[in-house]
Amino acid sequence: MADTDSLKESKSYCLDVPQRNEAFFLKGAGSLDWGMQNRLSRVFRPESGRTVMLAIDHGYFQGPTSGLERIDVNILPLAPYADALMLTRGILRSVIPSSYGKGVVMRASGGPSILKELSNEQLAVDMEDALRLNVSAMAVQVFVGGEFESQSINNLTRLVDMGNRYGVPTLGVTAVGKDMARDARYFRLACRIAAELGAHIVKTYYVEEDFETVTASCPVPVVMAGGKKLPELDALTMAYKAVSEGAAGVDMGRNIFQSDAPVAMIQAVNGVVHKLMKPEEAYDLYLTLKNEGR
Ligand code: R5P
Repeated sequence: MADTDSLKESKSYCLDVPQRNEAFFLKGAGSLDWGMQNRLSRVFRPESGRTVMLAIDHGYFQGPTSGLERIDVNILPLAPYADALMLTRGILRSVIPSSYGKGVVMRASGGPSILKELSNEQLAVDMEDALRLNVSAMAVQVFVGGEFESQSINNLTRLVDMGNRYGVPTLGVTAVGKDMARDARYFRLACRIAAELGAHIVKTYYVEEDFETVTASCPVPVVMAGGKKLPELDALTMAYKAVSEGAAGVDMGRNIFQSDAPVAMIQAVNGVVHKLMKPEEAYDLYLTLKNEGR
């Protein structure tokens, strides 16, 4: 029999306190369902509204990239400093401990290697497996202006449809082929297409001129792609400018894991992204941590 002896009559109705009804913190995500918003909160820190995503998915088309030869040895020490890891399901299952409790953004497209036409991608993951892996978001490239433009856009829209069914957000990555312009005009076009077609987050490259028009005209959060390895101060400066000009954080790979001191670098990137630390200050932090061997 249920123990009802100690039940007291409820009194704490707080009749003079309206129920809290907080707006969701991310741009363009206010009308998403609870599960989708909860997953986005595993990728973006609610306190700052931004993310330091560590991209380690390069192997899906270029094999063991420099710095990613041994993800267990070189990348796991960085994981505690990232808000989310962007990676393939192969690496997630084989190397990342299942006790890892932060965001997982899973690469969901693939096909061609660096030896072939990269825009010729297909979706490469089943929704069921993404759910089994409890991912926070799925990522797909869009090659606007590329040879297989429509196919890549179709990959995005199918992934968005599958994700919407189960509350899994989609990150659209604007890929730049060899012949594509890298200017604000191009990225405004590519980011807006990805968002209009349903991407919940867009990843794109920083451009020196008018980057704020790229973030302003994209109705969902934009995260800055890292790109090729730069000297640390330059990479921190680029990240600082991107977040100051409206990016909701970074999704950086080589500029972190190919740094001379990756653990120090990711902490410096954190300072820039979450505390809006000036590039020189973040670089000093990087040097200090590097010299301390951290
Ligand atoms: C692009 O195709 C991928 O998403 C990359 O594998 C990766 O995210 C690039 O990161 P980064 O340019 O910062 O090394």
